[in-house]
Amino acid sequence: MKKEENTTENDLMEKIVSLCKRRGFIFPGSEIYGGLAGTYDWGHFGVALKNNIKQYWWKKFVDSRRDMYGLDAAILMRQEVWQKAGHVENFADPMVECEKCHKRFRADQIENKEKCAECGGKLGKPMHFNMMFKTQVGVIEDSSATSYLRPETAQGMFINFKNTVDAFHPKLPFGMAQIGKAFRNEITPRDFIFRQREFEQMEIEYFVRETDWEKYFEYWRGEMLDWMEEVGIDMNKVHEIEVDKEDRAHYSSRTVDFEFDYPFGQKELFGLAYRTNFDLKNHGLEYVDEEANRASKDIARHDPVGSKMIPHVVEPTFGVDRAVLSILLSAYTEEDKGEEVRPYLKFKPNIAPVICAVSPLLKNKPELVEYANTKVFAPLKAEFGRVLWDDNGNIGKRYRRQDEIGTPFCIVVDFDTLADNTVTVRDRDTALQVRVKVSELANYIKEKIS
Ligand code: GAP
Repeated sequence: MKKEENTTENDLMEKIVSLCKRRGFIFPGSEIYGGLAGTYDWGHFGVALKNNIKQYWWKKFVDSRRDMYGLDAAILMRQEVWQKAGHVENFADPMVECEKCHKRFRADQIENKEKCAECGGKLGKPMHFNMMFKTQVGVIEDSSATSYLRPETAQGMFINFKNTVDAFHPKLPFGMAQIGKAFRNEITPRDFIFRQREFEQMEIEYFVRETDWEKYFEYWRGEMLDWMEEVGIDMNKVHEIEVDKEDRAHYSSRTVDFEFDYPFGQKELFGLAYRTNFDLKNHGLEYVDEEANRASKDIARHDPVGSKMIPHVVEPTFGVDRAVLSILLSAYTEEDKGEEVRPYLKFKPNIAPVICAVSPLLKNKPELVEYANTKVFAPLKAEFGRVLWDDNGNIGKRYRRQDEIGTPFCIVVDFDTLADNTVTVRDRDTALQVRVKVSELANYIKEKIS
């Protein structure tokens, strides 16, 4: 790629968006019909990256723990869920409309509150715009059939609190975890996948005794930071912000936002909230805290009836799409090569869509293709799964393509391979090449990525 002078942060965003489309990560939604604002479709490598991020999250926060219970709740829920959760009343952003061109803006995101940025017309008074997508369930179109596409995965966990307690008898503290789609009719979707109308969340509701919430708030703050580092988010660009009372969601008594330095400014990445017992209380759900009752009479102070109490909740919440964006921005690197630059995505191997690509030096040499396929590609594919066959174009082009996909290793089978059973392994970050015995290849890669 030709070197550009004075690359700005805006250029960086453009480069990421273009790379994502060109290399099959992320496409604009409904593109052939002109696009649908706030929606994106995920291509082969985008799905792989997203899946690796979600799997790594699930492994760390669910599979490797004893106190976490997974859930996959329905996206459509009864309207009472959102009434009791306070979203019907409160899940709104301030909006202004231009009296001339009727374009709508988020009132808290525009500098000139009087004049329309598009046509110069007069802006009307701010009003509240509820961001939930309303829909109708079934064939009868009366108000009882109203439902909403969930704007957060959290409520699915609250309304399944009793089911989870009855099925697994967990002792406090314990958590529920869910990964899934969320929908918000954002007034102004923008900045690529940062603010969309359809996106994914990875959320934990961690149930604790009221007296313990501060301890677990601190604990989850640390866990969230560790996870960010483990998936390759540049921690120099992450900032912790204590959110003021007037800016907190209606259910939160304390929120810490983790913000990231995006090219378009420092903005929210993930959040950590203390939701008190707001949600469980509103849904009328209780917990029998037998242990606390046995251990201390004090807990009875919180108990409305006997040993029954309502746990409090610490909620670490992660947006999958913002995780992808911050990882892409953290991984994007350009190596200066004089007149040219070599762009590559420096993904950590645990989340890279492809661990290694295997190529025969020439695709019209059957003996190279046969060797590469049976002795290198097939065993590596069986071992690592995320292994790609790449015989398109010349070797230089293949390296450039794999650099942009973020593939840590490219393996080439050449004529020397047929003689001595060694292959070339090229490292993405250094572009250095070494010869490795085919019999030691899997161990070599394992060692490098561990
Ligand atoms: N259950 C709490 C909750 O939903 P939130 O801060 O509104 O809290 C959680 O959302 C996370 O979801 C955010 O930190 C962000 O990563 C992601 N998110 C929120 N709105 C989004 C949008 N419009 N597009 C992409 N991601 C979004």
